Amino acid sequence: ALAQETVKIGVILPMTGPSASTGKQAEAAAKLWIQQNGATVAGKKVELIIKDDTGAPDVTKRLAQELVVNDKVNVLLGFGLTPLALAVAPIATQAKIPQIVTAAATAIITEQSPFIVRTSFTLPQATVPMAQWSAKNGIKKVVTLVSDYGPGIDAEKAFKDEFTKGGGEVVAELRVPLRNPDFAPFLQRVKDASPDAVFVFVPSGFGSAFMKQFAERGLTQAGIKLIATGDVTDDDVLNELGDSALGVVNTHHYSASHDSPENKAFVEAFKKANNFRPNFMAVGAYDGMQLVYKALEKTKGNADGQALLDAMKGMSWTSVRGPVQIDPETRDIIQNIYVRKVEKVGGELFNQEFATIEKVKDPVKAAK
Ligand code: DHB
Repeated sequence: ALAQETVKIGVILPMTGPSASTGKQAEAAAKLWIQQNGATVAGKKVELIIKDDTGAPDVTKRLAQELVVNDKVNVLLGFGLTPLALAVAPIATQAKIPQIVTAAATAIITEQSPFIVRTSFTLPQATVPMAQWSAKNGIKKVVTLVSDYGPGIDAEKAFKDEFTKGGGEVVAELRVPLRNPDFAPFLQRVKDASPDAVFVFVPSGFGSAFMKQFAERGLTQAGIKLIATGDVTDDDVLNELGDSALGVVNTHHYSASHDSPENKAFVEAFKKANNFRPNFMAVGAYDGMQLVYKALEKTKGNADGQALLDAMKGMSWTSVRGPVQIDPETRDIIQNIYVRKVEKVGGELFNQEFATIEKVKDPVKAAK
C-alpha cells in the first residue's frame, strides 16, 4: 500500500460549555502553529480536524472513535478536562496512536494508556512549589479550597503533604462542586477559620467567578491571603479579576509575561491573530503541535503510531514557557515552575515571575 501522504491530527476540545475558554485558546494556538510553520513537515501534509466535545466525556469518546475509525487520524490531541482525557485513553491504546493531552492535568492521566503523552502539566507539579514558598514565607495556617474532581483533589493532597512537611498546618480542606459552583458558603467557612491564607485551585476559565465572590466576602480585609495555582489567575481571565487579584502569589508553568525572546514573539503573533492574550492552555496546544512536528521530523515522515510515540519520548525543546522535555519514562512533561505575583504592568494585570524552580517532574510519579 502507498504510505499515507497526509498526517491527520484529530483535535478534540471543549469549544462550547463551561470550559469553552480552553477550547478557544487551544484552537487558536494550534492554528497559529500551522500558520507559522506551514502545513507540511518531513514531506507530509498536516491536516487538523477540530471537534467540539462540549466538555462531556461521552461526546469526547464518540468523537475519538469516529476520528479513528472514519477519518483514520494518526494522532489525537487536546482534552480540556480530566474526565475527557480519561474517556479516550482506551481508544488510544487500542488504536495504537498517540493521545497528546495538551490541557488536562490530573497526575494519573498518563498512566491510563502507554500512548498518552502530555504537554500541559500536573497539578502536583504546580502545587508543591506553592506549598514550599508558603512554608518559607511566614504562612503557618492554611485552608484549602478546590474544585471537587481529579485535579482539585491532586492539588489539595500535594499542598497538604508538602506544607505539613515544611511545618505548616492545613486546618480545613474544602471541595466545591465543579459545575455551577457557588463559592460564597465555602468562603464564609474560610473566613470563620481565620487562616493566614487560603490555597485555591479552580480550572481555567473559572477564576473570575471565584475572584468576584472572594472580593465580596472581604477575606483580604480579614487578613486572609489568597495563594493559588496559576489556574485561578489564568491569563485568559486575569484582566477581568480586577484589583482584588493584585498581589496574589501563585505558581505555574506559563505566564504571558514570561521574559524570553521565544515568548515575546509568540505573544505578539498570537495577539495579532486573535485579539486576545494566550494563556497556558494555548501553550499546551502550541507545544502539542510542536511535538507532533518534531516527532515527524525524527521519523522522517513515518506517521505510524508506535514510531511517533517512540520519537516523542525524551524529546526536548525550548518552549515559550522555558525549557521542556517529555519524560521518557512517564510521558509527562518536565518543566520549570515559576513563582509569580499578580501585578499591574502598563495598565494590565500579569503574573510576574519572580522565582524559578527548574526541571520539575510530576512529584507523584517521581516518588514511586
Ligand atoms: C484541568 C482543567 C483545567 O482547566 C485546569 O486549569 C487544570 C486542570 C483538568 O480537568 O485536568
